[in-house]
Amino acid sequence: MPQLLNDSTSIYVPQPCTLLEVSDLTPQEKLFRLRLDGGGELGQQPGQFVQVSIPGLTEAPISVANSPTRRGYFELGVRKAGALTGAMHQLQPGDTLGIRGPFGRPFQLAALADKEVLLIAGGCGLAPLRSLIQYCQDRPGDFKSVHILYGARSPQDLLFKEDLENWQISERFSCRYIVDKSPGSSCYDGETGLITRLIGALEIDSKNGCAVVVGPPPMYRPVIAELRRLGLTGKRQIMLSLERQMRCGIGKCGHCTIEHLYCCTDGPIFWLEEIEHLRGAL
Ligand SMILES: Cc1cc2nc3c(=O)[nH]c(=O)nc-3n(C[C@H](O)[C@H](O)[C@H](O)COP(=O)(O)OP(=O)(O)OC[C@H]3O[C@@H](n4cnc5c(N)ncnc54)[C@H](O)[C@@H]3O)c2cc1C
Ligand code: FES
Repeated sequence: MPQLLNDSTSIYVPQPCTLLEVSDLTPQEKLFRLRLDGGGELGQQPGQFVQVSIPGLTEAPISVANSPTRRGYFELGVRKAGALTGAMHQLQPGDTLGIRGPFGRPFQLAALADKEVLLIAGGCGLAPLRSLIQYCQDRPGDFKSVHILYGARSPQDLLFKEDLENWQISERFSCRYIVDKSPGSSCYDGETGLITRLIGALEIDSKNGCAVVVGPPPMYRPVIAELRRLGLTGKRQIMLSLERQMRCGIGKCGHCTIEHLYCCTDGPIFWLEEIEHLRGAL
């Protein structure tokens, strides 16, 4: 049951937090490291989001980009899209933001236990998936193996380049990334093509595999088709994240519905079989 509006811990009242660090990920995306002013941990689970606000502006849902196993701060990877995110990009360390949450259904960690885990991100989808990747990095005994695949439009759109390099040399993961196209002028010497090419090249025990997919809507159908070709055809073998425009973030306003489901509370993480038959879901 929602708490009262005048309660300072109400889910309707933003909690102040302070910006500790801000760094450029790409020309359009920045990484914000924050700490709650009231102390304590945010308490997110990988895949959850917060509603971010700046006084005088609207709120926007932003996924938490770090794992709860990394303590003392939380991180948001933010693309400059409109009013709120544009204003966020102007902020400096020491500035204050409002946060409600964490909200939403997280990645189903229990379902990944002892599995061959495929973590597949496209574009901005690496921000929420990074939380799960860090979790896998910090709890290696929980999973049989972890394969990270990431696709971006061009070399300059690649997010978390330093992390990608570290994940590539880590013994805990296999990690490959690819860009759709690389302009001749770029010094990028990595792989080019669509992310589906990387999936097709995987060798896994498909019966014991589980895939997590986070990316832009056009990526989902071809990626799902490729995962099925790989043998992930059973129930609860593919989970994915859906984004809808949100207002309240807590299942009250109805802005985020997909037929009978509320993206903010039933999701944003869904099993494929929960949503694939719903009109407009994918
Ligand atoms: C669960 C969830 C997690 C998200 N995580 C992140 C994240 O980690 N990093 C990040 O940069 N962004 C994330 N977003 C998207 C972000 O919330 C929107 O870009 C938001 O609109 C930005 O607010 P704004 O005021 O800056 O832009 P606005 O003034 O709202 O305008 C931005 C433009 O994006 C459109 N838009 C608004 N919401 C969405 C949406 N959900 N999907 C597609 N288009 C939208 C608007 O119609 C408008 O054209 C997430 C969204 C959801 C639902
Ligand atoms: S955002 Fe209000 S019901 Fe989901």
